[in-house]
Amino acid sequence: MTAEARRERARALLRDAERVLVLTGAGISAESGVPTFRGAGGLWRAHRPEELATPEAFARDPELVWDWYRWRRGLVARCAPNAGHLALARHALERPGRVTIVTQNVDGLHGRAAREVAGSGRDAAPALPLELHGALDRDRCSRCGRTRPAHGDVGSGTATAVGGTGVGDEQAPAAPLPRCASCDGLLRPDVVWFGEALDPAVLDAAYAAARTADVCLVVGTSAIVHPAASLPAATLAEGGVIVEVNPERTPLTPRAEVRLDGPAAGILPLVL
Ligand code: OAD
Repeated sequence: MTAEARRERARALLRDAERVLVLTGAGISAESGVPTFRGAGGLWRAHRPEELATPEAFARDPELVWDWYRWRRGLVARCAPNAGHLALARHALERPGRVTIVTQNVDGLHGRAAREVAGSGRDAAPALPLELHGALDRDRCSRCGRTRPAHGDVGSGTATAVGGTGVGDEQAPAAPLPRCASCDGLLRPDVVWFGEALDPAVLDAAYAAARTADVCLVVGTSAIVHPAASLPAATLAEGGVIVEVNPERTPLTPRAEVRLDGPAAGILPLVL
């Protein structure tokens, strides 16, 4: 099949679908300038996850962990949604209740795209994603669990330029560790770390959407981190199909009805 024939097949599947589940990963934000985790230049190539993204790492060295997350917050604050985020937001807003966006990303770019496309006159809710792995722009108390918008020093923790690694680079004076206004516990980023469970309510909602979807559109994920990577199988089990957008093959590729080989920001506006 030619690339155009594959795009046409994807267009038809998405056009005819009563319900669509969109599962996104780091690849959808690549063209916004947010590094992926496992590709060339990926975050997990430069850092050991267990040194930065585990509860044990935070207990051992909260400054180091905060240093990395402040760097990531600063980086994301300088990025903007790309044509892929915007096309998905438009698609969901035009079909309220029929498209569920589920993301593994914590960068907030789907939400920003939803609000940008909805503008002031429309409700952005139909295009807001279920965030399986939490959100960079929220803090959570490591003691009492209360969440709040990110504390005020976003991006000020390091002097790292975009393209740096965020840890071990030249440091600005260390910001004090943020604390909970209610119980004085240490605040942490409200993201899911290795070894932690996902929010069951968010996961249940994602599975419910996966089971009722005719099409699972999987965009920019290596599809190896579970339970997120199991969602497309729930769509398949109920008779739906997978459409995959990724420049690389993944473990899901053999089960995809169509694979669109290329960058999300180029492909999504063509098929949605
Ligand atoms: P990965 O870094 O594992 O995979 C990114 C995927 O995006 C790869 O399959 C790339 O081929 C693809 N990709 C790269 N550029 C792309 C582009 N422009 N358009 C489309 N696809 C592109 O990221 P995730 O699969 O999201 O979890 O990783 C899953 C989870 O592992 C993350 O949420 C994170 C990480 O550990 C936690 O931190 C809990």
